[in-house]
This record gives sequence, structure tokens and C-alpha cells, in this order.
Amino acid sequence: MLVSAKEMLVKAREGKYAVGQFNINNLEWTKAILLTAQENNSPVILGVSEGAGKYMGGFKTVVGMTNGLIEELNITVPVALHLDHGSYDGALKAMEAGFSSIMFDGSHYEIKENIAKTKGIIDIAHNRGLSVEAEVGSIGGEEDGVVGAGEIADASECKSIAELGVDMLAAGIGNIHGQYPENWAGLNFEALANIQDATGNMPLVLHGGTGIPEDMIQKAISLGVAKINVNTECQLSFAAATRKYIEAGKDLEGKGFDPRKILGPGFEAIKNTVKEKMELFGSVNKA
Ligand code: 13P
Repeated sequence: MLVSAKEMLVKAREGKYAVGQFNINNLEWTKAILLTAQENNSPVILGVSEGAGKYMGGFKTVVGMTNGLIEELNITVPVALHLDHGSYDGALKAMEAGFSSIMFDGSHYEIKENIAKTKGIIDIAHNRGLSVEAEVGSIGGEEDGVVGAGEIADASECKSIAELGVDMLAAGIGNIHGQYPENWAGLNFEALANIQDATGNMPLVLHGGTGIPEDMIQKAISLGVAKINVNTECQLSFAAATRKYIEAGKDLEGKGFDPRKILGPGFEAIKNTVKEKMELFGSVNKA
């Protein structure tokens, strides 16, 4: 059964570790992530962008697939199905379809409008027992057509959003979706510390988890980050493993053209990437 992300994140925040949000794109990814969470006795959050939801045939398909896998694979660790960077309408649709957690990303609105819209989503979501993530100060880079300039979030704006009763807060601290440029300045820990001071025990969310050095991840967790989003790193490992299989001509040998065989190495690569992240984030055996 899908659960809200609230309880797992409160526990992570208290226990000084982070729960990984791994974005899904298809059945193989979803299955790989769920099995890895179970094998490592780790809570997990499956992230779905609106674009990925469309690609998979719509939110209802995603909910049906995930619930089916949880039941048939005997997944007993806590799993949240979370809308990633949702629009207001997208958030409503995902709740209707059966998502257990919602990110409403109003960071591109003026703060007043972000507050009003976030409040609207919280009211509906909490009525249904679903958790809500809000965002202040956009995350840099581009993800599925959502482009952010990479602002550093203002601590007092974070406080205003936190006081609405969100369950987790994404705050821009120099993090970027996708790969980091060589001249990247790193995470802004001063900003993170100010946000932590302003928001009390709020579980903070670090987007753009791909390519952040391990010591920065650990420092971020020590400053209140309880959820870390990873997408590009799974895409890279999946693509590399698939390319290796094809370039070695394995698809031309025996029954190597079987799609279940072609996607096999990528499936294993995602499992390895997710396991490494769960170990780094400290969520192993925290289910
Ligand atoms: P990356 O693609 O950089 O791992 O970021 C993922 C993310 O933040 C999803 O919201």
C-alpha cells in the first residue's frame, strides 16, 4: 500500500539521514527501485514528473502499475508515490488518480501567489491524508520542460511557506537539475543553515541529487535535509548499460533481441545506482 511521505521524513529528519526520491519513467525503473528498497529495508519515494506521467500513459496508469508491483512483489517497506514539480492542475489530477504525496511547485510565482496556491493544495491533500512538498527559490537547470534559474531561497519566505503546514520544503541553495557544470560554486550551506533556523524541524528537500559530492550530501543532511531527489544519475547508468549491451552486439546473438533481455542490463544498473544512494543517504535498514 502506498503511504504519505510525512512519517518517513519526520523519522529521517530526527534520525539524521535522508530518504531518496528516485524518479520513474517506466515499469523497469519502478520495479528496480521497489526491489532495491525492499532488499535494503529502506523507505523510498517514487518521483513522477508530469511529463513522465504522460509518457507512462497517465497518472492512473502509474498508480495502477505501482500498486500492482507493491502487491505482487511483496514490497513491505514504506513507499510514497510523489508528484514531482506539479502544477496546480497537475497536483489536483495526481491526487484524484491516487498519488500518496504531492509536490506543488509554485516557485515561479510571486511569493504571495505561491503561498495562496500552496495553501489551496495543502487543504485538499491533508484532508485526504496525503503529504505536500512546496518550493521556494527555484532549482536551477531544466527538468522535463520546467526551467529554473537557480535562485537561493529567502529564509523568511521559506518560513511563510513552512507555516502553512507543508510536510517538506524544497529550497534552492545553488542546486541544479541535471549535471553540474565544472565551475559550479557548490551548495550554499550558509543559506541552508538560515533556512533551517527559520523553519524549525521542517524536513528539507534537496533537488538535483545527481553529481553532488558525498561530503556536501552529508553536510546537507546534518543541516536538516531529509529527502534527496535523484533522476539524471539513474538515466545515465541506464543509458550506459543499454549502450554497452547494444554495442557489444548482444542484441544480435541468440534471443538477445528480446526486449526483456535488452532492458536487463539497464535494470541492474538502476538497482546498483539506487543501492549506492540509499547507502550514502543512510536510509538502509530504516524502514
Ligand atoms: P537530478 O536529475 O539532477 O538528479 O535531479 C532530480 C530532481 O531533483 C527531481 O526533482
